[in-house]
Amino acid sequence: MRRAVIADEKGMEEAVRLLRQGECVALPSETVYGLAADARSPQAVAKIFAAKDRPAENPLIVHVLDAHEAGQLIKLDDKAQVLAARYWPGPLTIVALRQSNNGIAREASAGLPTLGVRVPAHKIFRDVLQRCGFPLAAPSANASGTLSATTPQLVTKNVSLILAGGATDKGLESTIVDLSDNTPVLLRHGAIPIEDIEALIGPITDGTRPSKTPKSPGQTFRHYAPRALLRLNAVDVEPGEALLAFGELRFMGVKGGGWAKDLPEAKLRNLSPNGDLDEAAHNLFSHLHALDEGGAIRVAVMAIPDVGVGRAVNDRLRRACQAQEKP
Ligand code: TXA
Ligand code: MG
Repeated sequence: MRRAVIADEKGMEEAVRLLRQGECVALPSETVYGLAADARSPQAVAKIFAAKDRPAENPLIVHVLDAHEAGQLIKLDDKAQVLAARYWPGPLTIVALRQSNNGIAREASAGLPTLGVRVPAHKIFRDVLQRCGFPLAAPSANASGTLSATTPQLVTKNVSLILAGGATDKGLESTIVDLSDNTPVLLRHGAIPIEDIEALIGPITDGTRPSKTPKSPGQTFRHYAPRALLRLNAVDVEPGEALLAFGELRFMGVKGGGWAKDLPEAKLRNLSPNGDLDEAAHNLFSHLHALDEGGAIRVAVMAIPDVGVGRAVNDRLRRACQAQEKP
């Protein structure tokens, strides 16, 4: 049975006790909720894969308290140090070669020579890390292939304890950069715009495009899919469709008559009425979920500018569509 507790002293003690015993606990980060377990323990890590129904070939991100601890787990080169100094704690994951005998279970990184590491900024996550005193492996707390959880209600049913901490701030997962080679590669668009990262360390190869040999195993799997079918870059609403709006709605029509702004609440969500991309990112997964819950079968999605964090929002929407084309 899934139980949510608030992160007061009692809740924290229970969560840390379970983690010490090798169990999984869901907890908030600044990006999305994570499903955490002791990263050193193959058995604990196996429970994460089981709870999410996640393929064993898809590696997990390991979370630590600071760049020093990260440096004990992976080889941080100069560029990695620059990024770590600027963005940690925060929504950046660095993939780099594992330090030998770093104590992290091989299963956590799916047997790869590299490991993804992140220093989370969320107070509850940091508090749990501090009390545990060991690194925590934590993927997003959704069932594999479904929408990431930005609230405790959206966390997978397959977990006994959720440390509840309200809606997550960013609403999108961390940006992932692979620095295991001389050329940095972007593995996932995320909460930190890629433009900002390039401004610090120079050009990054975009490894997020579909490819036969993706560097990030996660990219080959079905992802971020709501139940409803999405139609992107919509300029009007087809009869029967729900609408995921962005920005001004006044002039958007429903084919056959009527205005989009008059759609019933169950069929209308606006990611950001003022056209703010950070707000859109924050709302993306919860709005898609709400439309699913409202019974939407098809959803028209208005265009979202492909700049800054808008690129990560569009990436999630495109992947949701791909998953639906090829289930
Ligand atoms: O914001 C986040 O990153 C959240 C919070 C909880 O930290 N975590 C998260 O984890 O989104 P997850 O497992 O849902 O996504 C991690 C992605 C996967 O696509 C995985 O394939 C990729 O990171 N990844 C992890 N380690 C990797 C590695 N060593 N090499 C390549 N890709 C890696
Ligand atoms: Mg995920």
